[in-house]
Amino acid sequence: MKGVILAGGLGSRLYPLTKVTNKHLLPVYDRPMIYYPIQTLVKAGVKEVMLVTGGNSAGEFLRLLGNGKKIGLDHIHYAYQDGEGGIAAALGLAEHFADGDKIVVVLGDNIIEDDIGPSVRRFQKQPQGARILLKKVPDPQRFGVAAFKGKKITGIEEKPVKPKSSYAVTGFYMYDGRVFDIVRTLKPSRRNELEITDVNNHYLRRGLLEYDMLKGYWTDAGTFESLFRASTLIARKKARQKS
Ligand code: G1P
Repeated sequence: MKGVILAGGLGSRLYPLTKVTNKHLLPVYDRPMIYYPIQTLVKAGVKEVMLVTGGNSAGEFLRLLGNGKKIGLDHIHYAYQDGEGGIAAALGLAEHFADGDKIVVVLGDNIIEDDIGPSVRRFQKQPQGARILLKKVPDPQRFGVAAFKGKKITGIEEKPVKPKSSYAVTGFYMYDGRVFDIVRTLKPSRRNELEITDVNNHYLRRGLLEYDMLKGYWTDAGTFESLFRASTLIARKKARQKS
């Protein structure tokens, strides 16, 4: 399967760290942030990747990652996002790359402990639709949040004031080739973005949305607190590995 990594945006919540550079190039403990989602994909066997970026320092990704071989990729393709259209708009730029195949989409600031290989393989066997990864969190209002009836997801709300569960939708999404038709039907949200949550709800309404639960840690790194947390989690993991 092919992978799409979304690494655009202005990273305004991290200003002034992001005044002259892209959020995904900032350090998370001993590596640039973008290394982590790439390594998660490589570990899952996804080695043909498109990186969608934009905003500040887009050209620095090429200097850092080159042809991707040193970080374990077979091929890396680059796409440039003009302006701030949201996650789903950035995904839309990967249509030609995906070429009708199933894809794994990862947000470039999402750092996890789990191997997503088993989920990717389950999705490969899934005849059609989408698959998302959920994680129980103490602060669901910061994320897309799934509501359940028993074990079935009944809806996903983007940053709800009163979350219906503690299960956040993480930045790992798997889609069939129809996702680009869905992106074309989306209307901008209140924050004037094309929301990935609307894509997921689209699949859900058709009974085509599956999910898995992440077991290990998960964090995004788009705020000072979460960026610091990400570095701490990696530092602790490295210390555990040494001892
Ligand atoms: C985005 C998505 C949200 C998801 C989160 C995961 O939020 O819109 O549904 O839970 O990523 O990191 P953002 O932080 O980009 O606003």
